[in-house]
Amino acid sequence: MKKHYSVSPDGEKFQLPDPDDYAKEFDRLNRMVRDQRNRGREIVVVMGVGFVGAVMAAVVADTEDKDGNPHKFVIGMQRPSVRSYWKIPFLNRGLPPVQAEDPEVAPMIHRCVNEKKTLTATFTYDALKLADIVVVDVQCDYLKESLGDVRNGQADMAALEKSLEIIAEHISPDTLVLIETTVAPGTTEQVAYPIMKKVFRKRGIEDDPLLAHSFERVMPGKNYVASIRDFWRVCSGTNEKATRRVVKFLEEVINTDAYPITVLSRPIESETAKIVENSFRATILAFLDEWSLFSERNGVDLIKVLEAIKVRPTHSNIIFPGPGIGGYCLPKDGGLGVWAYRHIHGFEDDIFKITPLAIDINDTRALHVAQLTRDALRNMSRPLAAAEILLLGASYREDVGDTRYSGSELIVRRLTEMGAELRVHDPYVQHWWEFEKQDEYPSPTHGLKRFFRNQDKLADLRVEQDLNQALSGTDAVIFAVRHQHYLDLDPDTVVETAGTSLAVIDCFGILNDAKIKRYFELGCEVKGLGRGHVKGIKDQVRAEREEMLLALSAKGRSAAPS
Ligand SMILES: NC(=O)c1ccc[n+]([C@@H]2O[C@H](COP(=O)([O-])OP(=O)(O)OC[C@H]3O[C@@H](n4cnc5c(N)ncnc54)[C@H](O)[C@@H]3O)[C@@H](O)[C@H]2O)c1
Repeated sequence: MKKHYSVSPDGEKFQLPDPDDYAKEFDRLNRMVRDQRNRGREIVVVMGVGFVGAVMAAVVADTEDKDGNPHKFVIGMQRPSVRSYWKIPFLNRGLPPVQAEDPEVAPMIHRCVNEKKTLTATFTYDALKLADIVVVDVQCDYLKESLGDVRNGQADMAALEKSLEIIAEHISPDTLVLIETTVAPGTTEQVAYPIMKKVFRKRGIEDDPLLAHSFERVMPGKNYVASIRDFWRVCSGTNEKATRRVVKFLEEVINTDAYPITVLSRPIESETAKIVENSFRATILAFLDEWSLFSERNGVDLIKVLEAIKVRPTHSNIIFPGPGIGGYCLPKDGGLGVWAYRHIHGFEDDIFKITPLAIDINDTRALHVAQLTRDALRNMSRPLAAAEILLLGASYREDVGDTRYSGSELIVRRLTEMGAELRVHDPYVQHWWEFEKQDEYPSPTHGLKRFFRNQDKLADLRVEQDLNQALSGTDAVIFAVRHQHYLDLDPDTVVETAGTSLAVIDCFGILNDAKIKRYFELGCEVKGLGRGHVKGIKDQVRAEREEMLLALSAKGRSAAPS
């Protein structure tokens, strides 16, 4: 029989389980659960140990009562797919299956697996039979069919629907099923409930499934764990019992004394809260795109304008959008809402204007960076085609290694299409899978590659870890992400390392005026998103240079013999 393997990001191969491994695995779990129940612990199965589920599983496994005794035993359940199976043996060694900048993640997982022994991971769905509570953390993607038109797409509910069916086939009727996945509003009541109810009926179970929704607000980065454990939650159940159970569970595992829970009347309200929360943020970022262009064309520095506005307390959360809005959530969540209105709730009219427009603007903002780079190089009489361009930062936000839907990806793709040679540096990213595995990641059918031409060579793009090496000989440098490492880069050092004057593109307000001026003095060309004032600085440097030349020639004339 042909063996199948799942390969971890660091290249370790794990053989997928054989059919006879399942009975052995269930036996292992049964023994563990018996022992854990004797200790009075509740059994929680977390379904899907990805970015959210892996850390949520550890947070639950780490909880203790007031006497310091753990009161939950957690089984992280992950389907044994070629892409994801490796996460199970990783977790069972006590290693995080996600890259995390938060120093709390790795020790917490190690502690729960190896010391407290309150966390294990498995591939068998039979684990669900042992659960008092199932937490659903599988993905629910929104698949876009075109670039910059979110309406042309659909929610990809397949993994979630399949998971719910499997859960209903295995759980006891008294098990609480808590959906944490960000879903199209209406999913818990109108998709999950009927799926589970039908399976229950087939099994001869008359009870209603105990279903609840409570979304995650997890933020990758240095506060990963705290953004799950020490943060406000919103929840709601499909009936009174489910609501009581979900509130009790969240009070036991989340720091609700400091961060109280909001209980809403129906799951659709909790689901809508998540979508509106993220659409709000996407919108306040998107509307600045037009002001960013206005600023570039009228000598305005949008960064300074925003600082001035932020002083007013009512406007303190206004934020500069950078080169597009990435991450897993903001590019898709509004799309789930717009899609639900027609495809779950059956409305034919078109009430959504701002939410899809915001996503479309955010999804294409990065393309403008390619134009700025082209123009800066042209001003230096260097054609973009065949120029060597260094992109600083691959991730979607500062000081994290998460590259999902980052604006940087679009910058690389567009510039490559235009003929440039790209290099990338990012201290937080070892592998940029969106390129290295561009025909399968993040999806074999829905990667961004398909919207651009001449992309094949990008499979060879590797993330440079040595900044000096990356800079050497480059024609242009694009400051794409506000990583700490880039904030203090000195223009003289950059130009000296590059070995030549270069085009400098600031996508995120990284350069202050003194640095911009210095780059111009060094013969560089500077452009930036929303930074129209650079032209004024350039004129000032030119005027100063002319004045100096005039003074020098006057001095020369007066020194010359008459
Ligand atoms: N920053 C974030 O990533 C973030 C923040 C807030 C909310 N969310 C939401 O949380 C949810 C999960 O996101 P994620 O980033 O963890 O996704 P992910 O893709 O990293 O993880 C999902 C995991 O579920 C597994 N899975 C899929 N089907 C399964 C099945 N039938 N049985 C068992 N496992 C299965 C997948 O293999 C994968 O490991 C999404 O709805 C997302 O929108 C994410």
